[in-house]
Amino acid sequence: MLPAPSCQKPPPHPIRPQASRPRGSTSGRASRAGMKRRQLLRHAIALPAALPGLASSRALAAIQGGPRVAFGIAAQTRQLLTDPGFRDAVVRECDILTPELEMKWGFVEENQGSANLAPADQMSNFARRFGKRMHGHALIWHKSTPDWAASQMMTNPDWRIIDAFIQRIVPRYAGVVESWDVVNEPFADNGRPDGLRVSPFLTAFGPDYIRRAFERARSLAPTAKLYLNDYGFLYDDSESEARRTAALRLLEALKKHSVPVDGLGIQGHVDLERTGTFRQETFARFLKSVADMGCAIRISEFDVREHETAIPVEQRDALVADATAAVLDVAADCPALVSVTCWGLSDRYSWLPLPSETAGLNRGLPLDSDLRQKPMYRALMKALRR
Ligand code: G3I
Repeated sequence: MLPAPSCQKPPPHPIRPQASRPRGSTSGRASRAGMKRRQLLRHAIALPAALPGLASSRALAAIQGGPRVAFGIAAQTRQLLTDPGFRDAVVRECDILTPELEMKWGFVEENQGSANLAPADQMSNFARRFGKRMHGHALIWHKSTPDWAASQMMTNPDWRIIDAFIQRIVPRYAGVVESWDVVNEPFADNGRPDGLRVSPFLTAFGPDYIRRAFERARSLAPTAKLYLNDYGFLYDDSESEARRTAALRLLEALKKHSVPVDGLGIQGHVDLERTGTFRQETFARFLKSVADMGCAIRISEFDVREHETAIPVEQRDALVADATAAVLDVAADCPALVSVTCWGLSDRYSWLPLPSETAGLNRGLPLDSDLRQKPMYRALMKALRR
């Protein structure tokens, strides 16, 4: 039985910005309460590499005040190290950084015993230097499991290889990584009544792999917030409904058994071909059910996939912005929402393809490929301040 709806606020979450801290502060020490509007404006302008005439998300928050939902982006270390314009935009815009690749098991330990940790170290140093919080992604994910580990799990299941990875990575980034995707994408339509994906983890350890992973992560990161993260919760169709039901049942069971799960990451990969089946009421009801369990909510991987490129660019951008507002306005109305992370900041580095290479870049991220704010950016910022 799922709990009766009564949208409760979850316990305080470290990645929700505190009202007493000025957003846009590079030191984070000054108290916003005592600052006059002009002081705040001066403070905001001092941010690195502000675009002339355009306020960044952090600067706007400092000027406008009031609590807001934190804004995050996923990026790759080499983008931050080799592209100064992009790096400045990241510094200017985001509160929370998620490594797109660098903390994944298959990236860190492609061969058993190898330890490719330099890129994750570099990103965490960047985060410390610029006062960014980090979200760790992802401890358990079937797609980022190295081949050697997947095949060992299938032939000779031994939790110690998973344990060794979690132990290697979690304590290393204590103090900078404030939250983790502990289990990523555990749901799939594989014909199981519980809606769980048939992955090497499930095959080797049964559904209990989820409890084990959360408990191990908690033992190594006592204060980090621990998330289950998945996609496919957005639409008003039977496929999404099945995934929502599976997620609610799993969260309920985990909570019932005191498994240390703090929240749900809702990947917001919006597909413009499917927005006709998005209904705000359905999504709002799902968010409320998650919140009612005392779970925090992150919109964890937001971007918009385009399909139609033979229309004027203004029209494309308007479609992307409308889809952004439709989803994020509902999310922002839920008190359990702690952050929105875009899966990339600029179209320059979007992972989203277009139907053909000649169609150019997908325009489903907040900044265009020249790092200019697009209507999507404004829709996003408006939602974050709702
Ligand atoms: O950097 C190498 C390049 O040197 C090489 O020539 C090329 C050849 O394949 O590969 C490049 O690495 C690719 C990497 O992205 C860098 O862009 C990997 O093959 C490719 O697998 C990797 O894909 C990433 C994918 O996760 C798998 O880790 C995507 O960038 C990343 O956006 C995607 O993110 C996932 C989330 O983790 C989970 N949710 C879905 C989301 C999108 O798929």
